[in-house]
Amino acid sequence: MPANVDMEKIVSLCKRRGFVFQSSEIYGGLGSCWDYGPMGVELKRNVKDAWWKAIVQERDDVVGIDSSIMMHPKVWKASGHVDSFTDPLVECKSCHLRWRASEINNQLCPKCGGELTAPRMFNLMFKTFMGPVEEEASTIYLRPETAQGMFVNFENVITTSRKKLPLGIAQIGKSFRNEITPGNFIFRTREFEQMELEYFVKPGTDEYWFDYWVKERFDWYIRLGIGKEKLRLRQHSKEELAHYAKDCYDIEYLFPIGWSELEGIANRGNYDLTQHAKHSGRDLSYYDGETNERFLPYIIEPSAGVDRSVLALLIDAYHEEVVEGETRVVLRLHPSLAPMKVAVLPLSRNEKLTPLAKEIYKQLCPSFMTCYDDSQSIGRRYRRQDEVGTPFCVTIDFQSLEDNQVTIRERDSLAQIRVPVEELEKTLEAKLQGESFEASPLWATRQK
Ligand code: GAP
Repeated sequence: MPANVDMEKIVSLCKRRGFVFQSSEIYGGLGSCWDYGPMGVELKRNVKDAWWKAIVQERDDVVGIDSSIMMHPKVWKASGHVDSFTDPLVECKSCHLRWRASEINNQLCPKCGGELTAPRMFNLMFKTFMGPVEEEASTIYLRPETAQGMFVNFENVITTSRKKLPLGIAQIGKSFRNEITPGNFIFRTREFEQMELEYFVKPGTDEYWFDYWVKERFDWYIRLGIGKEKLRLRQHSKEELAHYAKDCYDIEYLFPIGWSELEGIANRGNYDLTQHAKHSGRDLSYYDGETNERFLPYIIEPSAGVDRSVLALLIDAYHEEVVEGETRVVLRLHPSLAPMKVAVLPLSRNEKLTPLAKEIYKQLCPSFMTCYDDSQSIGRRYRRQDEVGTPFCVTIDFQSLEDNQVTIRERDSLAQIRVPVEELEKTLEAKLQGESFEASPLWATRQK
């Protein structure tokens, strides 16, 4: 059962309104790589900020780090990625395209119908060389997950933060995988961003914390406005579990391609610290002063994709509705996620209106992401803001020059209120925090 909106509409809106462009487009594009434009970069940053706020800022049991993308090659040996981060692939003997063995139904190449080779294992990590000599000894990898940066820094963080277990280490950053079948826009790409939390706990409390984080992470998407009916949890079967996982749930979203993974929450047991202790020769155990015990912590890992979250949020926010006989496209994004919070729109480019409009724009800029638009009719400008999900438009008209009041129009209800210019910032702040429009004493009209 796919979602109501198809992917082409989202891709087209993203291009038209500056959310996402194809990478290196003037050279014909680079497969599976995408660039975030002026609107996309704001949306993406807001998603990451929302995650950081919920995971790091509002908790006293999680700290953040930012580790390097290139790590010692032994990290990937210890983690199991060199040996196990592989997909079985088959190759077409005629056109030489490679396919995941699991995607092949009738043993023939889906592109040209050619005969296929027997499956071979293909490692998904990108290799490169560090330093001037391209030799085996200088081979390093671009990280395929940010998680290892947290594991190898466990000792550093625990000694410098002076915190006790349970303790989480969080990180947001780029990861790279040489995916065999990337696609579906920004859903599966070869370069993407992850938001990962590694939550270190005492063995025996891991199942409690696993359940806790599954619920916590599911609720986070709902708090950001995603429809509950479009989200579900799916437990991994034994055969499906990653080489490190004891248990795992996926949070799935109903994308246009069907139910697909948005985030995985895994109970990694003590696999990671055991491996890194063994390969580095360091004692990574934790001393619990209260019980006088020493043990290797277990790790609960909620791991989310930034780009996949952006895609799900765009799809979920996308609405088409008919207003006065015209179809309007509106992104009903949660105000905290909207790229622009406010648009300042003088009724026309009339020279009498411009100074006040510009002054208001300057006044709002330090507090909110604000844009200024005076080209084309006011109706068209409202529609443009609706399409990028701007919660509030502030209109300056000729009346404003006399009474020093402006109109605020709300994106979803299309309701309008008039407020004195000196109260504008305070009013917008309250409305962005969720105060109802009707609560305003200056509630005036509901015009479409
Ligand atoms: N450290 C665990 C880990 O990396 P994963 O399930 O492989 O687990 C976690 O990845 C999340 O990262 C996924 O749920 C997805 O949101 C995102 N992700 C993984 N591969 C991706 C890709 N090729 N393109 C975009 N996002 C991806």
